[in-house]
Amino acid sequence: MRRLLHVSASPRGAASFSRTVGEELAVAVAAATPGWTVTRRDLSHAPLPHPGPDFARANALAPDMRGPAEREALARSEALIGEVEAADVLVISTPMHNFTLPSVLKAWIDHVVRPGRTFRSTPAGKQGLLVDRPTFAIVSCGGRLGDAPAGQADFLTPYLRTVFATIGLSSLDILCLEEMNRGQEKVAAARAAVRVWSAACVARAAPAPGA
Ligand SMILES: Cc1cc2nc3c(=O)[nH]c(=O)nc-3n(C[C@H](O)[C@H](O)[C@H](O)COP(=O)(O)O)c2cc1C
Repeated sequence: MRRLLHVSASPRGAASFSRTVGEELAVAVAAATPGWTVTRRDLSHAPLPHPGPDFARANALAPDMRGPAEREALARSEALIGEVEAADVLVISTPMHNFTLPSVLKAWIDHVVRPGRTFRSTPAGKQGLLVDRPTFAIVSCGGRLGDAPAGQADFLTPYLRTVFATIGLSSLDILCLEEMNRGQEKVAAARAAVRVWSAACVARAAPAPGA
């Protein structure tokens, strides 16, 4: 059994460009080879609480110093990390909100990216503790990225690359759907780019022969 986890962040439900493309990719990966289970985590439909004081206290303690209360405070984080660890392939779909990621996705990241659990700090910097795996992100923007005045700052895609690499997921492949609020022609151009990109992702996600 192989597992794909689709984490989506758009508040726009079925109308979301990013979620629709993420879902199409998940279905295409699962259809390409037998034996897939797809798990969906819709962060807008079911938002996570932000890590609170109990989480922060427990997270700062060494694992062998944690009692039942601290383990309980980290239980949600453990479950979310477990979903990532169980996945052979990750799909992250998100809109750009105010030049960066929606807060619901940031909350998920704050539960998943934890010192001593998914990364460790070393004199050489942070080292990821998760096994790398194919990870695909679909980012949808209303406008264009790049230099002003035509473009806008992008604090989303560099952030995603940094934070996923921090936990060991360096094989992050990002597709940006730009100018999605600028008419049907732009949407059609993005759909054409999606087809090419998705075909390459499906090939990358396929298990190695004999695996
Ligand atoms: C709160 C909010 C903030 C947004 N900020 C930006 C932004 O900074 N840059 C941009 O290009 N589009 C911005 N947009 C537009 C969305 O990124 C755009 O509509 C995108 O295609 C939505 O993706 P979705 O269909 O997957 O939800 C914003 C939308 C919302 C609701």
